[in-house]
Amino acid sequence: MAVTIDLSGKSAIVTGGGRGIGRETALLLAQAGAKLTIADMDEASAQRVAEEIRGKGGAAIAARTDVTRAEETQQMVRAALAAHGRVDILVNNAAVWTTKLFKDMTPQDYDRDIRVTLYGALNSSRAALDPMMEQKYGRIVNLISDAGRIGEPYLTVYSAAKGGVAAFTKALAKEVGRYNITVNGVAP
Ligand SMILES: NC(=O)c1ccc[n+]([C@@H]2O[C@H](COP(=O)([O-])OP(=O)(O)OC[C@H]3O[C@@H](n4cnc5c(N)ncnc54)[C@H](O)[C@@H]3O)[C@@H](O)[C@H]2O)c1
Repeated sequence: MAVTIDLSGKSAIVTGGGRGIGRETALLLAQAGAKLTIADMDEASAQRVAEEIRGKGGAAIAARTDVTRAEETQQMVRAALAAHGRVDILVNNAAVWTTKLFKDMTPQDYDRDIRVTLYGALNSSRAALDPMMEQKYGRIVNLISDAGRIGEPYLTVYSAAKGGVAAFTKALAKEVGRYNITVNGVAP
């Protein structure tokens, strides 16, 4: 049985939407009718995905965003509101990982992994919550990972960050459910 999801009229932000799972997610959301904001620190890739969506008749803008910077995630949300009038869906997809034994990792390595993977989800969610709470509608989807549940060697800090995102997902869902905002995690 075919399942059709109709997201016409909805506005969605995908962080790290310039490539990989983020790009595919953005294309699927656009196919379902959503208007997209492709947020990525790699502006050229975000522009390419936005153009691809517009080329297929959809609505999309690119927003150069480093999710480790709270003010840039606020700007990302302002850009989505200016272009599409609402922010209904946020997909916290941007993440990075250092593949090394923990004993070989530097504080700079784990600072980067935690900042992008965990703080990125916090910053983007915090920025998107204001319009979502005002609208009394929101859907936040956090990309998590089995690494955060079982713990992966060579990916210790990424495992810690994703475990943090999973706990954040559950805790935030309990806080904002009363505003008709759901918060879910997807582990590819
Ligand atoms: N690929 C997998 O097998 C897998 C498995 C489990 C979970 N995941 C999760 O799925 C998500 C996507 O994975 P992927 O393999 O497509 O990743 P990817 O590395 O292919 O793409 C990540 C994107 O995030 C962007 N990005 C990196 N740092 C950023 C920052 N500071 N600000 C904004 N954008 C930034 C990159 O430019 C890139 O476009 C991640 O959250 C990852 O942890 C992936």
